[in-house]
Amino acid sequence: MEIFLTALFIILGFTAFYLFHQRRDPQNPPCISGWIPWIGAGFKFGEAPLEFIEQARIKYGPVFTVFALGNRITFVTEEEGIDVFFKSKDINFEHSVQELIEKIVSVPKDIFFSFHGILYGLMKNKMRISHLYQFTEKMVEELHEQLETLGTDGKNDLFNLVRNSLYPVTVNFVFGKGLYPITHKKIVEFHEHFQNFDEGLQFASQMPECFIRNWSKSKKWFLTLFEKSIPDLEKYKPSDDDSLTIMQLITNALRQGTSEHKAPNYALLMLWASLSNLATVACWTIMFILHNPSVYKNVMEGIVSVFGEAGKNNIKISEKDLKKLPLIKWCVLETIRLVSPGIITRKVMEPMKILSYTIPAGDILMLSPFWIHRNPKYFPEPELFKPERWEKADLEKNASLDCFVAFGGGKYPCPGRWFVLLEIEIFVALLFYKYQLHLVDPFPKQSLKQLMGVQRPVTSCRVEYKCRK
Ligand code: HEM
Repeated sequence: MEIFLTALFIILGFTAFYLFHQRRDPQNPPCISGWIPWIGAGFKFGEAPLEFIEQARIKYGPVFTVFALGNRITFVTEEEGIDVFFKSKDINFEHSVQELIEKIVSVPKDIFFSFHGILYGLMKNKMRISHLYQFTEKMVEELHEQLETLGTDGKNDLFNLVRNSLYPVTVNFVFGKGLYPITHKKIVEFHEHFQNFDEGLQFASQMPECFIRNWSKSKKWFLTLFEKSIPDLEKYKPSDDDSLTIMQLITNALRQGTSEHKAPNYALLMLWASLSNLATVACWTIMFILHNPSVYKNVMEGIVSVFGEAGKNNIKISEKDLKKLPLIKWCVLETIRLVSPGIITRKVMEPMKILSYTIPAGDILMLSPFWIHRNPKYFPEPELFKPERWEKADLEKNASLDCFVAFGGGKYPCPGRWFVLLEIEIFVALLFYKYQLHLVDPFPKQSLKQLMGVQRPVTSCRVEYKCRK
């Protein structure tokens, strides 16, 4: 009986594989399908996804398809494909992320599709650059408070230092005061659960929740926290609607559509989106600056020219001051270029052309910011940290460098991009004004494991700091 079943499975498998290949239109891009039915190239892709993508590009050219876990995933790697990815009317963002959102924060399909456009509009408006500068003063004050806790000198894990400063400020901005814990014990608990949730998310997107107990526990912890705290966060009523927090705006919109009960799930999504990449990018930025002495020197010269010599307490930072410190912004952008997310996705809704290929409807279309930023055609000497390359970008007009796609693009680019740039710029300016720093440990390598988020350092890195006199 057992032999019979095995034989049957093999025959069915080969038949499915044969049929799949028969169905392939010769005009479709080259396809890497592996030999195991349904799984396809899933194992090889899953082992080291970023390396896999680059090797496939070198072997198969700028457009290729990977068949994995029953999905056809078509990668575009050069400008013609990037253009289609962001501009074609035949591709769709919402259909490419809906299942993921349902899996990770349990927002049902119908609610997601009804609210995505409305909620995106609210976030985009709230975090538009012209609107953000009014929060600068508050952000500076709160960052000062956090930096006070460092004392006059010390040695600390850089990620911890950054996280302790940026998480509360960001949570206060997105949710309002009252959510972020204040006692040491509760803060540690919050950090542990967030780390579990964040680090397990890539697995969670592929597997049923019952297989990832730790991740599931932290998800529930946050949902319970939000269920309890959202009514309190709602009580705080600012004088004008313009000052409502992002979470208040989201809850109001859900309430009008009678889907208020999903507010905790959206809160978890917002928490993840706002914190996940933020501290890692800030940490890399500081490491890149300190690792490049000439950049560090120039950053410090800029800071001294704007704020004067050290010694003053609690300097204020205005929009005007930041405009005089373009190098810090270039450093943040150059860092993001180098550690960008592994992939962003869209769904092909109607068959469409890229170069000479026809991409069938139903394909998942993927683009890798990480690798596009390493193509010397678009970024000469791509592996080098060269903040000065950003001099060419018209940042005053909020333009970027061609082919810089770390924040996505098209109809739904990252709505938090201006916020994250502003917060890290201010943080770096304050930290470097206040302290002289150096890296204690070797400059870490990148993990190259992150598909959805920015690359993490493989090893931790301590920093030694001392008040500047
Ligand atoms: C360096 C840090 C960040 C990076 C690299 C980043 C990158 C991205 C990318 C690539 C996307 C998908 C865009 C697309 O597919 O076209 C995205 C979406 C999103 N990001 Fe960010 N992001 C960052 C920080 C933030 C922050 C700080 C917030 C909130 C305060 C935020 C909120 C969001 C949200 C809500 C979405 C989903 C938008 C939608 O549903 O249409 N991000 N981000």
